[in-house]
Amino acid sequence: MQIPTTLLAQVDSSVGGKTGVNLRAGKNLVGAFYQPKLVLCDLETLKTLPEREFRAGLAEVIKYGIIYDAKLFTQIERDLPKILKRNEKVLAPIIARCCEIKADVVSQDETESGLRAILNFGHTIGHAIENSVGYGKFLHGEAISIGQVAAAKLSNRILKLPQHDVERIENLFRRAGLPPQIKLNSAQRQKLFSAMRLDKKVSGGEIKFVLAKKIGRVVWGQKVSPALIDEILSA
Ligand SMILES: NC(=O)c1ccc[n+]([C@@H]2O[C@H](COP(=O)([O-])OP(=O)(O)OC[C@H]3O[C@@H](n4cnc5c(N)ncnc54)[C@H](O)[C@@H]3O)[C@@H](O)[C@H]2O)c1
Ligand SMILES: [Zn+2]
Repeated sequence: MQIPTTLLAQVDSSVGGKTGVNLRAGKNLVGAFYQPKLVLCDLETLKTLPEREFRAGLAEVIKYGIIYDAKLFTQIERDLPKILKRNEKVLAPIIARCCEIKADVVSQDETESGLRAILNFGHTIGHAIENSVGYGKFLHGEAISIGQVAAAKLSNRILKLPQHDVERIENLFRRAGLPPQIKLNSAQRQKLFSAMRLDKKVSGGEIKFVLAKKIGRVVWGQKVSPALIDEILSA
């Protein structure tokens, strides 16, 4: 049984059966897939969660809106002040919806070869930040917030995601108190690229991304050239 006590764990890590342990050598290096018999999300626990941890969890909540549910995204835009106040009436159905989306995606693809990849929206750059320049500096949710805003900008260039939607995405992370970008010098950008290349989402020098066609609809396996990523990150 899992009894998640952070917002991030309630909407993400407790569903899907993926467990990982961070070692000194790096994140998630040892782990297993093991389905829990029961996941119990008690919203009472969120009352004592530190503000920064709560906001970091919202990065995954917003992600579900972008990848799967435009209505959820609009609802978060509308109800954000109540969400930030941790209003249970507003939060409960949102957390339930996030679990439902994750379960839906994972059950359609247990092997992690296809659809499940959409859960990695914002994580290509996000993980690279966590594993290089941001190690110990950014929480997971903060790193993927930067990653999702960058992925939205790449989506605009590659899949013509409307500029208006890029702005809605960037504004929502900002309003949630999450970082929308990271300032890097060229040495740090090099480090970031090395981290991205170590990741499994690379083929023939090009890095694979999950990109958005519109809010609520994404496609995976989109190859992006390092030059374009560099341009987006240095803008
Ligand atoms: N397996 C997956 O699918 C998956 C998905 C997303 C993230 N992750 C990983 O999960 C990790 C982050 O886990 P997390 O966000 O659940 O945080 P965490 O377990 O690291 O907890 C964050 C901090 O909050 C404290 N805390 C937890 N619950 C509290 C509560 N109710 N009241 C007061 N304090 C509380 C903890 O003691 C800790 O200091 C990252 O390493 C991330 O990469 C895994
Ligand atoms: Zn994540």
